[in-house]
Amino acid sequence: MPDVVFVEADGNEFRVEVASGTTARDAAVNSSVPGIDGDCGGVCACATCHVHVDPKWIDIVGTAAPGSVEAGLIQFAEGNTDASRLACQVTITPELNGLVLHIPKGQH
Ligand code: FES
Repeated sequence: MPDVVFVEADGNEFRVEVASGTTARDAAVNSSVPGIDGDCGGVCACATCHVHVDPKWIDIVGTAAPGSVEAGLIQFAEGNTDASRLACQVTITPELNGLVLHIPKGQH
């Protein structure tokens, strides 16, 4: 199974084994990774699963599609950057083994 590494703002890392087809949000919540609340259950309606994709991975993961609901929510997420994604919209595949996602200081 692919591994995903979640990195807290203070540098603390959580490496999670993720079944392919699982979203990064579900992987984090199911593994009790702090800082990924995912309040809406993963339906792209809350932005409490905001992450910054590591620069080494952003070209592979891709950015939120312009004009998408995800991109609209990211605009209002605290600390958003060009590397912002909503973890519920990132589906883990074998190609994403080793993916590094940085968790913002806050989600609200
Ligand atoms: S879990 Fe709500 S937007 Fe991702």
